Amino acid sequence: MTESLLDDLQTSVAEAIAAVTDAADIDALADIERSSLGKKGFVVSAKKAVGTLDPELRKSTGQAINEAKVQLDEAIAARRSELGRSARSAQYEGERMDLTEVPAGASVGHAHIVTQTWDVLEDLFVGMGFRVVEGPHIETDWHNFDALNIPKGHPARDGFDTMYVNHGEPGSTLLRTHTSPVQIRTMLDQEPPIYVIAPGRVFRRDTADSTHMPVFHQIEGLVIDRNISLADLAGTIDAFVTAYFGAEVKSRLRPNYFPFTEPSAEFDIQRSDGSWLEMGGCGMVHPNVLRAGGIDPEEWSGFAFGFGIDRLALMKYGVDDLRDMFANDQRFLAQF
Ligand code: PHE
Repeated sequence: MTESLLDDLQTSVAEAIAAVTDAADIDALADIERSSLGKKGFVVSAKKAVGTLDPELRKSTGQAINEAKVQLDEAIAARRSELGRSARSAQYEGERMDLTEVPAGASVGHAHIVTQTWDVLEDLFVGMGFRVVEGPHIETDWHNFDALNIPKGHPARDGFDTMYVNHGEPGSTLLRTHTSPVQIRTMLDQEPPIYVIAPGRVFRRDTADSTHMPVFHQIEGLVIDRNISLADLAGTIDAFVTAYFGAEVKSRLRPNYFPFTEPSAEFDIQRSDGSWLEMGGCGMVHPNVLRAGGIDPEEWSGFAFGFGIDRLALMKYGVDDLRDMFANDQRFLAQF
């Protein structure tokens, strides 16, 4: 009786384990679990049968049944986690997305016109032999003003509508009002000859209107070499305007004043309606600026310019109002 009970149990366990190993999915596994370990399963019936055995055999038989149950439990748990893992990876595989795939006809967007203009300007000046450099948005008062021949108390400071940063001595740190401090950083950083452009963002306490924004973009140019003259400056600007706008667009230099250049000029471009739009300033680098940059004005001379990138974009794309460029309206942006 005992022998046949244990034999039957062993056979049933072996069969159940084989079925567990072959179970194709979680549902099949649950069926096997029910039929073997469930209320009507063979483990329970074997336990019930123990009561009919001779008392001295009950204990050892009961133990054998328990061991069989544990064996089966473990096999089921192992198969369950295996099936879970492959079900998950099948699910992941099914839900895989190709993030590089662009549906036909979808709009992929494009660079903003200011960025496009910035890129074109870099290409253009690099083609002319300039190197691209950059400086920080948060500047010292010294780099932004003093070193550019605008000492404290100089009236030119008022014209810049500076935004100061609460850091260090009051008035010592600011958001750069122009890209010209990059002139100083470059001179302190490298020996002449210097041929660089420095495009970047600048900040002024200005009210937004059709030609002004409190945050805008300039491109600075700096050339320091031997025997550089005003003719080199005029020639460079002319070459740039022709390359950027084409030969039909007129530009002009008007005498002006900047503390950091002498002589200085303002640079305008003619709109299609005949009016002139101011693009920026330029001039021969002032000897005091060369000295602040550690360069001997007896040996070297140079020119500098600084133009508004946004205004160039405005002109190039025929936009009437600078504010439209920064309103992030898709209907506007998608045109370019
Ligand atoms: N930094 C001047 C401005 O922002 C432009 C300028 C640059 C003028 C270089 C002369 C030389 O108005």
